[in-house]
Amino acid sequence: MDYQRVFTQAIDRLHAEGRYRVFIDILRNKGMFPNARCFAGHNGPKPITVWCSNDYLSMGQHPKVIAAMEEALHDVGAGAGGTRNIGGNTHYHIDLEAELADLHGKEGALLFTSGYVSNEATLATLAKILPGCIIFSDELNHASMIAGIRNSGCEKRVFRHNDLAHLEELLAAEAPDAPKLIAFESVYSMDGDVAPIAEICDLADKYNALTYLDEVHAVGMYGAHGGGISERDGVAHRITVIEGTLAKAFGVMGGYIAADKVVIDVIRSYAPGFIFTTSLAPVLVAGVLASVRHLKSSSAERDGQQAAAAMLKRLFAEAGLPVMPSTTHIVPLLVGDPVKTKKISDILLAEYGVYVQPINYPTVPRGLERLRFTPGPSHTEEMMQELTQALVEIWDRLELELRQAA
Ligand SMILES: Cc1ncc(COP(=O)(O)O)c(C=O)c1O
Repeated sequence: MDYQRVFTQAIDRLHAEGRYRVFIDILRNKGMFPNARCFAGHNGPKPITVWCSNDYLSMGQHPKVIAAMEEALHDVGAGAGGTRNIGGNTHYHIDLEAELADLHGKEGALLFTSGYVSNEATLATLAKILPGCIIFSDELNHASMIAGIRNSGCEKRVFRHNDLAHLEELLAAEAPDAPKLIAFESVYSMDGDVAPIAEICDLADKYNALTYLDEVHAVGMYGAHGGGISERDGVAHRITVIEGTLAKAFGVMGGYIAADKVVIDVIRSYAPGFIFTTSLAPVLVAGVLASVRHLKSSSAERDGQQAAAAMLKRLFAEAGLPVMPSTTHIVPLLVGDPVKTKKISDILLAEYGVYVQPINYPTVPRGLERLRFTPGPSHTEEMMQELTQALVEIWDRLELELRQAA
């Protein structure tokens, strides 16, 4: 076999479809987010404004987080030095797990090296432990949940996105005594819509199913203490496993689950993705601890983010830009063509110093390619007005259609 040719053809297919991924080379400026430097050109770094970061609340720049990380670095050094079982179970990890369990009102929590790993490891292990388990999965679930479900080897039923009637139809079709698990997200990060969590819990009660909720795009940002949509809606106690990331609103890195003690113990004891890997560096855990503690008691960042998202949606709609109907902090702008989406993103970066990554298939379905903006408490009204103006100019230049201004 001509290996080289096969690999090259695979890459060529991506180019032909206009969805070859280019990673932008940037450095953020500490304490100045969303300002950053871009190294794309040849004339040294160029100042840019970042509009697509998942450091949603700028906590990765927060003085308390940075101070906690510096202190930990000087106190205990760089790495964890081992798996949780062999030398890597630091006091920071134990403290953070207690803090996260408390955040979600659960008996325990367990840290992983990323949100991806927490989903993959937990879903694969839970379903393997339950003989004959059937997983009911929302069609828009994240790749990490899909990987976990696939790796569990169990039966899977996919329900239409947020469609309770379809979910019930699928649940009702299975044997009443078969173990069942409903896996879904709270905030869907590409559209910015929210799952009907209470109603899904009602179905779980009716059909005796467990529930697994990915709150990756909600923790830190919703609920009085940042416990996510399940806290906001007062339903956290009804969810079997709540999963979250420490890399988005909490601004650092890592993932976790929160659940009853026995569920945590099972995953801790059986999940390869938890057991056979070095634990998170204490420096990272110390930073997350500061971040979670801060966001538990401060709503200023959450309020600032909601205000910024509302303003950007309004400015886009008033300008006739095709903003999609998100009910959350995510502001997607529909383009519907991968080549044009990339072109708009390139012009924004080259001419306006605006960085927003094009979102193409397979992250979103073909034909629904978009630009996904994530305004936060550090984006000013002036930045939003400049952004809107730039987009209108580009829409005009590329002869894209504007809507009737709202
Ligand atoms: C819904 C969802 N779950 C899980 C993850 C993975 O989280 P992490 O980035 O911490 O690996 C992501 C990442 O973007 C996500 O969007």
